[in-house]
Amino acid sequence: MNERTVSQNPVIPESTTVGIVGGGPAGLLLARLLHQAGVECVVLESRERAYVEQRQRAGVLEQSTVDVLRASGAGERLEREGIVHDGIELSWDRRRHRIDFPGLTGGKQVWIYAQTEVVKDLIELQLADGAPLLFEAQVTEVTGADTDRPVVHYTHAGAERTLRCDYVVGCDGFHGVVRDAIPDGELTTYERVYPYSWFGILADVPPSNDELVYAHSPRGFALLSMRSHTVSRLYLQVPNGTDPQAWSDEEIWDELDARFAVDGDWKLARGPITQRAVLPLRSSVTEPLRWGRIFLAGDAGHIVPPTGAKGLNLAAADVTVLARAFGQLHRTGSSDGLDAYSRQCLSRVWRAEQFSYFMTTTLHVAPDQNPFDTRLQISQLDRIAASPHAAAELALNYVGTAL
Ligand code: FAD
Ligand code: DHB
Repeated sequence: MNERTVSQNPVIPESTTVGIVGGGPAGLLLARLLHQAGVECVVLESRERAYVEQRQRAGVLEQSTVDVLRASGAGERLEREGIVHDGIELSWDRRRHRIDFPGLTGGKQVWIYAQTEVVKDLIELQLADGAPLLFEAQVTEVTGADTDRPVVHYTHAGAERTLRCDYVVGCDGFHGVVRDAIPDGELTTYERVYPYSWFGILADVPPSNDELVYAHSPRGFALLSMRSHTVSRLYLQVPNGTDPQAWSDEEIWDELDARFAVDGDWKLARGPITQRAVLPLRSSVTEPLRWGRIFLAGDAGHIVPPTGAKGLNLAAADVTVLARAFGQLHRTGSSDGLDAYSRQCLSRVWRAEQFSYFMTTTLHVAPDQNPFDTRLQISQLDRIAASPHAAAELALNYVGTAL
C-alpha cells in the first residue's frame, strides 16, 4: 500500500469526544480547529475524497472566513492564489453600478477562492497531521441523543460500525441524518422554496469583468463570477426542473449575453463549457441548533439561496463558535460556550437569511411577477445607486460586517 492509501484509511477508534458527521467545509474546518484545541474528534464522510474535492460550489469568502482558515493552518495556498475583490457590480436597465466595498465599509474586502480549493487544503492538512477522517463512511443514524453517550452508526467497506461520542456534530448538509436523531417536536424549521433554480456553468475563458456582476434583466437573473484569471463561473436563473443537458453551449452563451447586455461596447467572452449543473434555491433555518449532546452546523442547520454568497461563510462562522466552545469545555470544564452556541449563531444566520432573501427577490424574476413587482425591483436598485446609505447596507452585509 502506498502512503496515500494508508492515510485515506486511518484507524478509526470506537469512541471519541466529538463525532463529526460530514466532511464538507463545516466538518473539516471544525475537525481542524478541535485538533488545534486538543479536543479529540473523528470525521465520517459518506463520499469518496475525489467527489468531495471536486463538488463545484461557493466562490466568495468573507475576510472572517479567510482569517479562520489562516488560523487553522489552511491559509498558505489561499494567500497565494486567492483573488481579493474590492467590490461587485449590479446590472439592470442596460447599465451597471459598482458597489465599492472598502469605501462603504471602512476598508473591508472579500476573497475569491473556490470551495473546492478550501476543501482540498483542509483535507490535505487533516490527513497529514489531524484527527481521523474516514471517506466512504455512510452514517445511517445517531442513537442515544437523550443519553450522555450518543452513538453514531455507519457503514464502511460493507461493514456496520459504531462510534460512541460525548458529543455529535451534524455537519452533514441539508440532506443529512443527524437532525433526525432529535425527537419530533424539539426542532422547528422555517423554510421558503423559490420558484426558480440556478443553472451554473464553468468555462475555460478569462472572466469578462474584473469583479462579479449580479444582473437583473427582464429575462431573469444572471451572475458572472470566476474561479481564477483563466476560468469563468457563470449562473443563469432558470425554471425549476430545467435539464442542463437540454441547452446547447451556444444557447447558454446567447442567454448570458442577453441578460448581461449594457449600453456601450462591453462584451461577454465565450469559451468551452467544462461543467454544467442546475440547483434549486431554498431558504431554511432549523431552531435550535443544539439538542442535548447533538449539535447542527453549516447547511445541516440552515440553507440560504446562493445570491448573497453566504452559505460557506455561515458554515465557517458556526464551527468557529463551536470549536471555541469545545475548547473552553476542554480547558476549564465550563459549558457556557456550548450553552450559548445556538443563540449566538442564529442571530448571524437570520441576518444572512434576510440579506440572501433580499438579494434573491430583488434580482430574480418570479414566474408570476407582474409589472408592478418589476418596478419595485428597479426602484430598489435605483435607490442603491443613488444612496450611499442603501449601498453601504448592501456592502456591509456582503462583506459580512453587518452580520
Ligand atoms: P456540505 O458542503 O453540504 O457538506 C456536507 C457533507 O456531509 C458532504 O460532504 C456530504 O457528503 C456529507 N454527508 C451527508 N450525509 C452524510 C451521511 N449520512 N454520512 C456521512 N456524511 C454525510 N456559499 C458561500 O458562502 N459563497 C458562495 O459563493 C456560495 N455559492 C454557492 C454556489 C452553489 C452553486 C452552491 C450549491 C452553494 C453555494 N454556497 C455558497 C453554499 C455553500 O456551498 C454551502 O453552504 C457549504 O457547502 C456548506 O458546507 P457544509 O459543510 O455545511 O455542507
Ligand atoms: C459564486 C456563487 C455565488 O452564489 C455568489 O453569490 C457569488 C459567486 C461563485 O460560485 O463564484
